[in-house]
Amino acid sequence: MKVLLVGGGGREHALAWKIAQSPRVKTLFAAPGNVGMRDVAELVDLSAEDINGVLQFAKRESIDLVVVGPEDPLCMGMVDILSAEGIRAFGPCKAAARLEGDKSFAKEMMQHQSIPTAEARVFTQFRDAKTYVASRDCGMVVKAAGLAKGKGAIVCADPAEAILSLELIMVDREFGNAGDRVVIEEKLNGPEVSVLAFVDGQTIYVMEIAQDHKPIGEGDTGPNTGGMGDYGAAPVADGRLRDTVTVDILVRIVHALAREHVDYRGVVYAGLMVTRGGPRVIEFNCRFGDPEAQAIVPRLRSDIVPLLAACADGRLAQAPDLDWDPRPAVCVVLASRGYPASSSKGDVIHGLDAVRELPDVHVFHAGTAREGDHVVTAGGRVLGVTALGDTVEQARERAYAAVERISFDGMQYRRDIASRALGR
Ligand code: AMP
Ligand code: GLY
Repeated sequence: MKVLLVGGGGREHALAWKIAQSPRVKTLFAAPGNVGMRDVAELVDLSAEDINGVLQFAKRESIDLVVVGPEDPLCMGMVDILSAEGIRAFGPCKAAARLEGDKSFAKEMMQHQSIPTAEARVFTQFRDAKTYVASRDCGMVVKAAGLAKGKGAIVCADPAEAILSLELIMVDREFGNAGDRVVIEEKLNGPEVSVLAFVDGQTIYVMEIAQDHKPIGEGDTGPNTGGMGDYGAAPVADGRLRDTVTVDILVRIVHALAREHVDYRGVVYAGLMVTRGGPRVIEFNCRFGDPEAQAIVPRLRSDIVPLLAACADGRLAQAPDLDWDPRPAVCVVLASRGYPASSSKGDVIHGLDAVRELPDVHVFHAGTAREGDHVVTAGGRVLGVTALGDTVEQARERAYAAVERISFDGMQYRRDIASRALGR
């Protein structure tokens, strides 16, 4: 088979690494891919949002399967356009990707289907939103309804903070058009988990659960990022939680969309807070998580390619059950100076060769580039360092031992990834 992977982040590097291992794959292309993927894929100089470019390339190369990694091309309808031209593509169509691309639509769907989620109100006018916020005497979360690279949710301790956040989103337009509408939610408490599943429109195969660390600072302080590291399996993520999430959340949302003639095919990702009253959805995403993929994909023993193809073809029920490595994985993200407010480019990354041979360690590239003989930083999240171990503690030690061998100017990372699993 010839496979084209769209995207160039850490998630896509993890997917490329896995797809390339499939005995069915003869050639893997990545558009645009990144420096780290060169060992496993041929890079194609096309941006992930260049729908027409991807379409023409897929036709020219007779690609058998296009795998779309990031949310932007999914929400723009890349899969619809490829499918209409007879090209098999993995990922939800535009109408299904709205679950991520429009938080107010997702909230409405959840409310109609009685899917447990945070109470929320949607506003289009700053004045109305401000009046509502001022009348509440509690913590709130203010969210830009559109896509904002995972940074559009601001957790606020009180109404004053919430008003500042509304100003940032609706008046200063920090996230551009994504802030045309805001969702104001009650603030929930509890551990957060990410539950991802393969879906083919009807059938759902739930993956191993991961726990992301969104804020930049240790102890979950500071602004939210796209994710600073994660691990599986979290102690709260037991079989009972999986069953509840599957029945009360995943099946309900996928089947509700199907009743509206929206076939959800791809990965559905439920971001959950496990409250005292049970798991509640704080967001849906229409793709693998980043960095969740970097901690989940290395544990998948099954060949991923037939699974991706089965989702695209609507025949997941015929695929064998997912086979997992039972060992936990920990992924630590290394970010560049200034992230998440900004990022720094061109800093030389040292130590990549030193970690290459470490057992059960994978270094997934995200914001990297090649400059002469050097690999340099080229974005906010630069690398994801994943390690597997017999226990979370061992996986964590291995990941941090690898991290210590890597360095670049301004490198920042959290030293407490997975520490909650160890009761610290
Ligand atoms: P989102 O972009 O909706 O996933 O939100 C980003 C992050 O903000 C989440 O991962 C949570 O840490 C936090 N968050 C979002 N919604 C809530 C909520 N209702 N209560 C508490 N924290 C939240
Ligand atoms: N790690 C969060 C996300 O992928 O949205």
